[in-house]
Amino acid sequence: MSDKPLLRVLAGEALDPPPVWLMRQAGRHLPEYKATRAQAGSFMQLCLDPEMAAEVTVQPVRRYGMDAAILFSDILIVPWAMGQGLTFAEGEGPRLPPIRDRAGLEALDVAGAAAKAEPIMGTVRRTRALLAQHHPGVALIGFAGAPWTVGCYMIEGKGGGEFHHARRMMHADPVLFGAILARLEEATIAYLLAQAEAGAEALMLFDSWAGQLPPAAFRDFVIAPAARIRAAVKARFPALPMIGFPRLAGPALAPYARATGMQAVAMDTAMDPEWAAANVPPGIALQGNLDPEALVAGGAALEREARRILAALRGRPHVFNLGHGVEQVTPIAHVEALVRLVRGD
Ligand code: CP3
Repeated sequence: MSDKPLLRVLAGEALDPPPVWLMRQAGRHLPEYKATRAQAGSFMQLCLDPEMAAEVTVQPVRRYGMDAAILFSDILIVPWAMGQGLTFAEGEGPRLPPIRDRAGLEALDVAGAAAKAEPIMGTVRRTRALLAQHHPGVALIGFAGAPWTVGCYMIEGKGGGEFHHARRMMHADPVLFGAILARLEEATIAYLLAQAEAGAEALMLFDSWAGQLPPAAFRDFVIAPAARIRAAVKARFPALPMIGFPRLAGPALAPYARATGMQAVAMDTAMDPEWAAANVPPGIALQGNLDPEALVAGGAALEREARRILAALRGRPHVFNLGHGVEQVTPIAHVEALVRLVRGD
């Protein structure tokens, strides 16, 4: 049994104070991130340089004393590793050549993806070594995007909208859609197993666009793949915990938690933590779910919102986090104040 607070909570223990980390804690709100990012040249070069990526992974731990580090990478590394083009246009977000036909599907190279993703495993190994040396109580979380969410970007070719092509293909060409997601699922499992092999101590599955699906599709393309991915990881690494994040799932968070076998589910900003505490089985940890805008605002609003969440989840396994990623304009002093508040000092 580990003595790292994050891993204790993922094993079902309620800790007071709860462990804390923030989604997108490494990123553009930190001057030291911007400096390393400038040195790397581009976001992709940063992701593919194990030394610099490990450095930015550890930066928020060093500055804030977070209980977890999350691997610095991106959910779109998997399609990139399968051979789909990927660029991050400055200020515009990701761009990929969209996959809309059989030829696009056939070009996806699952077998070759492992070698291309190898630099990410270098980041995992190097980060584990840095944490062991300087931050022994801090756990390293690896991650991947879930097939539905990553498929949205692969089919659409970009983010920022409502993913009409992806949502339409699901109904209009279910065979092609199913084949794209199946191939992606296979690559995602291999990618997560490689992270576990390299030293990730927990794995998080991000399904940012889960809330867009009608109920039957939510079962088929959110719950079912998450359950298979979880089972595949468990078969090789029985003790490794997983966190599932079906963002904006609403009440479907409860069946997701029961059916996937995840040790924790992450709550988005809209989820009522009291509802989650009453409806998610008590042995499954809850992560979240402060509004990132309350963290930008700071002051009394931040304190009130954070205390509400702490009160709602007192006595059950809880990992304090945001309901979505840290905003770029977040003041460092507000993150420091939040960590002090959660820790009660
Ligand atoms: O949480 C972390 O600190 C770990 C690293 C991480 C990043 N992206 C770094 C990143 C993680 C876990 C992600 C996940 C991710 N990426 C998701 C799922 C979570 C969510 O936010 O819903 C999604 C949908 C993506 C896709 C993605 N990557 C988009 C839409 C963008 C552009 C948005 C932006 O802020 O420009 C990215 C780029 C990205 N990924 C950045 C970071 C720090 C910003 C890139 C930069 O520094 O220029």
